[in-house]
Amino acid sequence: MLPPRLSPSMMCADLFRMGETIHVFEANNIPYLHIDVMDGLFVPNLMLGTGTVRQIRGGSSIPLDIHLMIEEPGEKLEWFDPGPGEYISVHVESTRHLQRVLAKIRSLGAKPMAALNPASPLSMLEDVLSDIDAVLVMTVNPGYAGQRLVPQTLDKIKRLRAMLDDKGFENVEIEVDGNVSIENALKMRASGANIFVAGSSLLFKNGNIEDHIKLFNEKIR
Ligand code: DX5
Ligand code: ZN
Repeated sequence: MLPPRLSPSMMCADLFRMGETIHVFEANNIPYLHIDVMDGLFVPNLMLGTGTVRQIRGGSSIPLDIHLMIEEPGEKLEWFDPGPGEYISVHVESTRHLQRVLAKIRSLGAKPMAALNPASPLSMLEDVLSDIDAVLVMTVNPGYAGQRLVPQTLDKIKRLRAMLDDKGFENVEIEVDGNVSIENALKMRASGANIFVAGSSLLFKNGNIEDHIKLFNEKIR
């Protein structure tokens, strides 16, 4: 099993304490920063633009994990200036030319990830497995923080892990996004997930971020 890792959801971070928060993540060897990009079309919300992405990248040594919840992401990839070591995820539902977009992410030097809404079947990934480094399984319908887990996504994670392993893609990672609390992360981990997007259910709930990281490391790692 691939080792469990955290990807804090930066849209849930306190804007007034961004620098301080990023230093806590650096000091705790957090491997990714999850950046939610929403265009008000693919999802009913607007969030984190290109300027914010640039500022967070410039102010941190942690690679970004950019989650594009936007229509036709292929035409907009360059706006985000993706670099080596960074993940860019695009939704299978957001483009008619998924393989082209994934190949373009790779050609820009970043790591391609395909994202699936809760209702989208795993079969949508079958013919792009060699084009991706990870799959993002949405465990809530994307658009907002603070939603409840869609429970049938747990079995979907299990079926995805089996599908990847069966077809020889053991190194393809599974990221989960939405209501990743410690309690749900335990179930997601048991199903085969290894990157955990930590938003208002885990790192950015009441209390101290470092304590929440420690609890994750104790319970999940
Ligand atoms: C959902 C977002 C998530 C969300 C996760 O569209 O992509 O990053 O913020 O955090 P919680 O724990 O609030 O679901
Ligand atoms: Zn996300």
